[in-house]
Amino acid sequence: MKKIIITGGAGFIGSHLIEKLIKTEVEEILVIDDLSTGKSANLSKFNDSNKVKFINKKVEDVQNLDETFEGYDFCYHLAAGVGVQYIMENLSKSLLTNILATHEVFEACKKNNIPVLVTSTSEVYGVSEDKEWTEESRSLIGPTTKLRWSYAASKMIDEFLALSEYEEGKLNPIIVRLFNIIGPNQLSEYGMVVPKFIDAALNNNDIIIHGDGSQSRSFTWVDDVTSYFIKLAEMKAYGEVFNIGQTQEITIKDLAELIIETCDSKSQINYIQHEEVFGNKFEDPTRRTPNIDKIVNFTGMTPTKDINSMIKEIVAHKKK
Ligand SMILES: NC(=O)c1ccc[n+]([C@@H]2O[C@H](COP(=O)([O-])OP(=O)(O)OC[C@H]3O[C@@H](n4cnc5c(N)ncnc54)[C@H](O)[C@@H]3O)[C@@H](O)[C@H]2O)c1
Repeated sequence: MKKIIITGGAGFIGSHLIEKLIKTEVEEILVIDDLSTGKSANLSKFNDSNKVKFINKKVEDVQNLDETFEGYDFCYHLAAGVGVQYIMENLSKSLLTNILATHEVFEACKKNNIPVLVTSTSEVYGVSEDKEWTEESRSLIGPTTKLRWSYAASKMIDEFLALSEYEEGKLNPIIVRLFNIIGPNQLSEYGMVVPKFIDAALNNNDIIIHGDGSQSRSFTWVDDVTSYFIKLAEMKAYGEVFNIGQTQEITIKDLAELIIETCDSKSQINYIQHEEVFGNKFEDPTRRTPNIDKIVNFTGMTPTKDINSMIKEIVAHKKK
């Protein structure tokens, strides 16, 4: 694949993906990003390479997107409203981005016969009561009055649209459901827990846990994620849905303690109820752990880092 499109390429995962692709035989990477949560600094480090082209716009605002997509071989569609805090503060905007931008991208991909990797989320499982979430687990999202589920619902629409178009022979999508991805350069301001806690710990500020801290998550290294993306594209895994995550769980309280220890910080842990932060429009899953057999068997690749080494590496990067 020589010519690649990345929507949302100025964001956290997108810029790591560019870093990996740029070292391959890829000749051109077109980034479309409105910098709503992405940063131009994430792209400026590629200035020396003439491979990256940048359209600083909302996907939905690019005139004649299908013409813009002409001649490209593959599209990684990452543009979306992301992060619990960002979504709760930009409810309808995020919902519409996630549906409309995806629709526009699919239309342009269809017209140009470009396969597309769609970044969905573990949120689509909601509070599923299955012990481990496989790609076939039943989703259990909350009522529409709990607006946090709008993100999950929008990503589900994206998945349904992709799979319907595939079934009708119009589009070649690969769907990935990402479980709490972390790594260097992830921003703290949109509610991502690891960079938020690390920023607090490095400044010896209180670490604020939403809820009682007993909720657990499993965190995945961003480089593993981008390796999976590229492999799935090479393997033409069209019409398939994959969990991408780690099976090692950690409670949010243990995560805070690990970060305090790794940063050698004097931070204290404080607790605040979700309702105090987001009102009564919020509820939080108590666990979120993927079954990753499908992607591991399909690609032959396993996640490379445990939580301790991921936190150490992010802290070292932040200190630099
Ligand atoms: N980071 C995670 O843990 C995680 C988990 C599940 C799913 N995802 C999905 O992965 C993708 C990438 O997430 P990320 O963590 O890199 O977040 P990010 O916020 O860093 O990246 C999203 C990028 O999309 C851009 N963007 C948003 N709306 C846009 C629009 N309408 N047009 C053009 N650009 C737009 C933003 O400016 C940003 O650069 C998203 O689709 C997200 O839903 C991420």
